[in-house]
Amino acid sequence: MDMRKIIIDTDPGQDDAIAIMLALAAPGLDVLGVVSVAGNVSVQHTTTNACKVLELAGRTDIAVHAGCAGPLRRTPVTAAHVHGQTGMDGPTLPDPVMRPRAQHGVDFLIDTIRAHPPGSITVVTLGPMTNLAMALVKAPDIAQRMAGIVSMGGAWAQGGNITPSAEFNVYADPDAADIVLRHAAVPHTLVPLDVTHRFLVTPPRMAQLGALKGRCARAAAEMLGFSGRFDLAKYGWAGAPLHDPCTIGWLLAPTCLRAAG
Ligand code: BDR
Ligand code: CA
Repeated sequence: MDMRKIIIDTDPGQDDAIAIMLALAAPGLDVLGVVSVAGNVSVQHTTTNACKVLELAGRTDIAVHAGCAGPLRRTPVTAAHVHGQTGMDGPTLPDPVMRPRAQHGVDFLIDTIRAHPPGSITVVTLGPMTNLAMALVKAPDIAQRMAGIVSMGGAWAQGGNITPSAEFNVYADPDAADIVLRHAAVPHTLVPLDVTHRFLVTPPRMAQLGALKGRCARAAAEMLGFSGRFDLAKYGWAGAPLHDPCTIGWLLAPTCLRAAG
């Protein structure tokens, strides 16, 4: 089978964690590395959380590279009110044994994209786009070398989730989003709240997940149980939206998402 090579740039985040696990489980995807970024919580927490998820999934062969510690110009905002103090509250996962690599996440993105043939790597951003923006500024040649970019970000008719009109990932670093949207010379798919708010983990789906025996499924159920509380209180929804996993879902089955007609 032809494997699609991806780099996941992420701020775990319960929904980030589930996106990572989905990508690892998907037979058609080859995860070349995970880059962390400040977003839902500090980059220290998101880096640790990325390591925890890879250990949980038994994939310590995949390197984690810590990326940018804050947005390009704005004052940092976090979403600990949604994700908890650790950013991935819910399950009690052991402190990770694996450590992030010494190379900065931005340099990992640049070197990996340059080391592969043009058009072979898709970058998936699940948090603020700070790392990819920095990479594009530092190494403009990568703008054309990627196969594409898929980002969870933005909001249209749905309205925002951090302000009445803004979606968190774009709001947290709008300058980075602007750079990526202007400079990347490859197809860039944005998966906005208008999509992700339709992918709710409803009680029947939670029950199905809860019935699975694996440790990843158990942790996923505990994560979604935690983040679902916020959505119940804010929107009255019985179930957390799977924001970030929608990007991986789209890579695996693009026809599962289509414009509302
Ligand atoms: C996005 O913001 C974060 O809180 C989630 O992980 C997701 O990436 C949703 O707006
Ligand atoms: Ca995220």
